[in-house]
Order: sequence, then structure tokens, then C-alpha cells
Amino acid sequence: MQFQLTEEQLAVQEAARSFAQQKLKSGVIDRDSRAKYPKNEVKMMGELGFLGMMVSPEYGGGGMDTLSYVLAMEEISKIDNSCSVIMSVNNSLVCWGLEHYGTPEQKKKYLPDLASGKKIGSFCLSEPEAGSDATRQRTTAVDMGDYYLLNGTKNWITNGGTSKIHLVVAQTNVAAGHRGINALIVETKWKGVEIGAKEDKLGIRSSDTHTIMYNDVKVPKANRIGADGFGFKFAMKTLSGGRIGIAAQALGILGGAYELALAYSKQRETFGKPIAQHQAIAFKLADMATDYEAAKLMVYRAARIKDSGEDYTTAAAMAKLFASDAAMRHTVEAVQIHGGYGFVKEYHVERLMRDAKITQIYEGTSEIQKMVIARSILS
Ligand code: CAA
Repeated sequence: MQFQLTEEQLAVQEAARSFAQQKLKSGVIDRDSRAKYPKNEVKMMGELGFLGMMVSPEYGGGGMDTLSYVLAMEEISKIDNSCSVIMSVNNSLVCWGLEHYGTPEQKKKYLPDLASGKKIGSFCLSEPEAGSDATRQRTTAVDMGDYYLLNGTKNWITNGGTSKIHLVVAQTNVAAGHRGINALIVETKWKGVEIGAKEDKLGIRSSDTHTIMYNDVKVPKANRIGADGFGFKFAMKTLSGGRIGIAAQALGILGGAYELALAYSKQRETFGKPIAQHQAIAFKLADMATDYEAAKLMVYRAARIKDSGEDYTTAAAMAKLFASDAAMRHTVEAVQIHGGYGFVKEYHVERLMRDAKITQIYEGTSEIQKMVIARSILS
């Protein structure tokens, strides 16, 4: 598989790198400390086309491939993972899910605002008792003829405080199990949509993660995505692509930590020489560089497979598993290389360590990725 980047992909990578360095870096520590939503930064991401990168130009998107999206995610995640998770959910769960499974009317109505960032979207699958075990949906969408009556609670919803459009997964026919689940497009301005408390998180602190309650929300039948009962498969298929986005986020965290550790260890001296010259540090850097390259190959490969139209479920799970575990392991080491400086916010590396943890949890924990991979190799 070839990984030589095209002129266009290189330009996207450079645009994302310079946006992250010039517009995100200076305020990221403050936003993280105060858990302040990056309102202006999200607006800029919309204007620069980072919120609807893969959406067809017909609906106001960038019409780019998955690899371009991954390259942009990687660069932005080296600096600000609150911004990159907002970007990831909007691009690969909401926009991609709608564009691939929505009706022409749904796409025309919702995609242009989502792709431009005028409105942000949320993907509402997780519940208090349905996280990893996603078929156990307690939220109900009762068929009332020309509309569904939606009731229930969703947890850990990224963009929950700011999004205007939700893709909500809910149970319509309990007896049919996962085949009785539907996915619905819900506008937050509708009566009965209640935004719950914002979570105070370990990492990605300035992204807004909320509980959402739906109380007798009337959702027109025209807002169901796909055929009756397609909701669980819609969620699974969409999440497979989402996992490539989160794998790219983990890759960026790993790359960011590696770049910081490398630069620091070349200039910091102990016992008469830069610490990079001590084998204890050089070996850590060698391990980091090796895993960064390996993660890059896996994440780019998953993106390429998706772009080729082949089944990318297993490749996406493998990429997310490897990149997120490597990001967690090596951000801890990057803090260690920085010594006491690594423990303070000013050096950026402790934030990357805190951010790394969520990549092993959301859009399927590492254990879920292993389930997906094991089923694939054993089937
Ligand atoms: N693509 C297409 N179809 C799929 C699929 C996929 N990737 N995975 C499963 N399916 C289909 C199966 O083929 C099966 O259909 P049939 O019965 O017709 O054959 C159906 O879905 C049920 O599949 P399983 O029996 O395999 O389901 P399961 O209950 O054993 O669990 C699971 C599957 C992989 C564990 C799944 O529940 C899962 O992925 N759980 C994790 C959920 C998750 O990632 N949550 C993250 C929340 S979203 C988020 O974090 C967003 C955010 O805001 C950041």
C-alpha cells in the first residue's frame, strides 16, 4: 500500500499544522484549565473547512478523502484535542453518517449547516446502562404513525452543550432486539430536548460533554435514517469510520508528545550532556519514534481502505487500538523525560497525557476494539 501523499493532501496537512500552531496553541492551556468551550476556534475551523472535510461539495463540504481528514486530525490533535474531538464527531459520525445513509431531503436540509460549522452535531448512542453494550438501548422511539415519540437519557455526549442537531439511536421494537432500533435526526430546539449537566473531565476539558434528556420529543418519521430497524447497524457502520478519526487523534497525541520530548531532551542537560545522549532517554525516544511510525502506517492504512470502498471495520479497530494504547504509554514516558517540567501545565505534555486516556475509551474502549478484531479473525 502506497503512502506517498498527493499535493492536495500535503497542503491539507500543512494548513492544519499552521492553524494548530498559530491559532490553537496560544490559548490551549487556558481553555483546558478553565474547561472553556473553544467557541472562536470552532468558528475558525468551520470557516477553514475542517468541520465538513469529507462532505460532498454539493452539500457545502470539502469533498476530500479520509486520508486528508486523518492528516488534519493528526496535526490539530498534536495541540488541542478538545478542538479535534469536536471536529471528529462532526465529520466522521454526524456528517458522514447523514451523507451515507440519509435521504436526499435530509441531506439537503441538514448537511450544509453541519459541513460549514454553522451548526454542530452530536452522535447520541451511549446511555447510563448502554455504553459498550450498545444494543441495550433504554431510550425509546415509539411509533405514533407519522412521528416517533422519543423518551430517554443519553450520556457522555460530545458537543452536547452546543450542538443543534442530534443523531439519536433509540429502541422502537424491544422484541426485535438490535433490529428494532432506529436512528433519528433531532433538532435541539424541539420541545422536550433538555441539555443536562456538563461533565468535569480529566482530559479534552474544553470540549462540552453533556447528558441529554429527551422528554416526549415528537420526531417526524421523515427524520428516521434508513429503513425501520436500521438504527443499530447505522450506529455500528458510522462508528467504524469514527474510530479512524479517534485513531488519528491518538496518533496526533503520540506525535505531539514525541516532538515535545525530542526537542526537550536535546536541549536539557544533565551530567554534562543533553539528556538525549543518555541511553535511558535515547531508548525511550527510539520506542516512541517506532510506535509513532507504526501507528501512522495503521491509521493511514485504515483511511486508505475506507477510501477504496472495502470493509474497513477491522482495520479501523486495529488502528484505534494500537494508536490509543501507544499514545497513552508514550505520553506517560514523555512526561517522565521532562521530569518536574513535565508535571506543570506550561510544558503542554501533561495535557497530552490526560487527553490520551479518552482515546482508549470513547467510540469503543480498547476492549471493544479487541472484540471487533477477534470476531473478524475468528469468523
Ligand atoms: N458494521 C456493520 N454491522 C455491524 C457492525 C459493523 N461494524 N458491527 C455489528 N454489526 C451488526 C452485526 O452484523 C449484527 O447484525 P445481524 O444480526 O443482522 O447479523 C448486529 O450488528 C449486531 O451485532 P453483534 O451481535 O456483533 O452485536 P453485539 O451486541 O455483540 O456488540 C459491539 C457489538 C461491537 C460490541 C458493539 O456493541 C459496539 O461497538 N459497542 C461499543 C459502542 C461504542 O463504540 N460506543 C461509543 C459511543 S459513541 C461516542 O463515543 C461518540 C462521542 O461522542 C465521542
